[in-house]
Amino acid sequence: MNILLTGSGGREHALAWKIKQSPKTQKLYIAPGNVGTGSLGTNVPLAATDFEGLKTFVLNHAIDMVVVGPEDPLVKGIYDFFQKDPALKRIAVIGPSQRGAQLEGSKDFAKAFMMRHRIPTAKYKSITRENLPEGIAFLQTLAAPYVLKADGLAAGKGVLIIDRPEEAAEELQNMLNGRFGDAGRTVVIEEFLSGIECSVFILTDGRNYKILPEAKDYKRIGEGDTGLNTGGMGAVSPVPFAGKAFMKKVEERIVIPTIEGLKKEGIDYKGFIFAGLMNVNDEPVVIEYNCRMGDPETEVVMLRIESDFVDLLEGIACGNISEKELIISERSAATVMLVSGGYPEDYEKGKPVTGLEEVKGSLLFHAGTVAEGDAVVTGGGRVIAVSSYGKDAKEAVKQSLANAERIHFEGKYYRKDIGSDLWT
Ligand code: AMP
Ligand code: GLY
Repeated sequence: MNILLTGSGGREHALAWKIKQSPKTQKLYIAPGNVGTGSLGTNVPLAATDFEGLKTFVLNHAIDMVVVGPEDPLVKGIYDFFQKDPALKRIAVIGPSQRGAQLEGSKDFAKAFMMRHRIPTAKYKSITRENLPEGIAFLQTLAAPYVLKADGLAAGKGVLIIDRPEEAAEELQNMLNGRFGDAGRTVVIEEFLSGIECSVFILTDGRNYKILPEAKDYKRIGEGDTGLNTGGMGAVSPVPFAGKAFMKKVEERIVIPTIEGLKKEGIDYKGFIFAGLMNVNDEPVVIEYNCRMGDPETEVVMLRIESDFVDLLEGIACGNISEKELIISERSAATVMLVSGGYPEDYEKGKPVTGLEEVKGSLLFHAGTVAEGDAVVTGGGRVIAVSSYGKDAKEAVKQSLANAERIHFEGKYYRKDIGSDLWT
């Protein structure tokens, strides 16, 4: 089968790595891809949201399946675009319909969905300019800290956690007045949940599902989980606290009601569901849904899938995921993200990356790199994810850290404490 994967980050390099291993894969294209994906397939200079460009490409290259990496094209309706076009309808799109993608595209939609289907989540209220006084009153019923979320996509920056009530009320008004543009015209105010986070990934054909290995993502820039939020500085899988008993609760209280809810509401969903969970005293509570895989979680999850991933994707597309086999490795996996100095704020690009050939016993997933002649230079905040296997997370992280040392670029920074909260 000929496959087109869209996106350009470490997640897409890891997906391409796994897709490439399948005997079912004939040609693999990545739009737009990066230096790493270019070594596994053919990069195509098209944005993941350029639907017309992608249409021409898939028709000219006999593409059978489109695997959508990032959320943007899903929220903009790439699935529906393919479904509605007679020339494209036969091509499988791995990713939900636009309505399904609202689980990520609108926090208000996601919260209302969870309420309708009794899926555990933090108490909340959705506020617009019209019911601002209700928002202020709701804040007064909550204890600090206060969680304010822009309803729409805000590139991971739309969540504020505020200690003082006056400041929360002020920020609520700032958001409604456009601090995050249109994404914040509706604000979800939420009860603060205290616990440890964990990412759970579900593959679904809309009726049945498989639960992929869970992962823990390290979001803050600084060691000890300090400083600004980033796209993710590293990840480990499995997560020790997400044992059999916890995952059983996740399946019964979250996964099954989510799939049943989608079915009941007639929402077409053939793709990934990423449930961001908080473990609150051993009880799983949903913080958010995403309609795609996580980044950098994919850079560990793919390492732990032993089955043919394309066979699983076919199960999503053909509606027979329940007949497919998912074998998960007993080994642990970890990834450590090398980032540009200054990230997640301003950083410089175009710094030559060297030492890649010195790396031993880890997989390198390119996140933000650009080819300049024969050289590789930095092209993003997150540059390279160094992923490793280990008999446990500690060994996997140690391996990634040893290789992180061997790669060089001006301003290179990475967290040396990935996973350490899990074993100390
Ligand atoms: P979200 O975009 O909804 O995942 O939020 C980003 C991050 O904010 C999450 O990964 C959590 O670390 C934090 N967060 C969001 N909602 C809550 C909440 N209700 N309680 C505590 N932390 C939260
Ligand atoms: N690592 C979190 C995310 O992909 O949203």
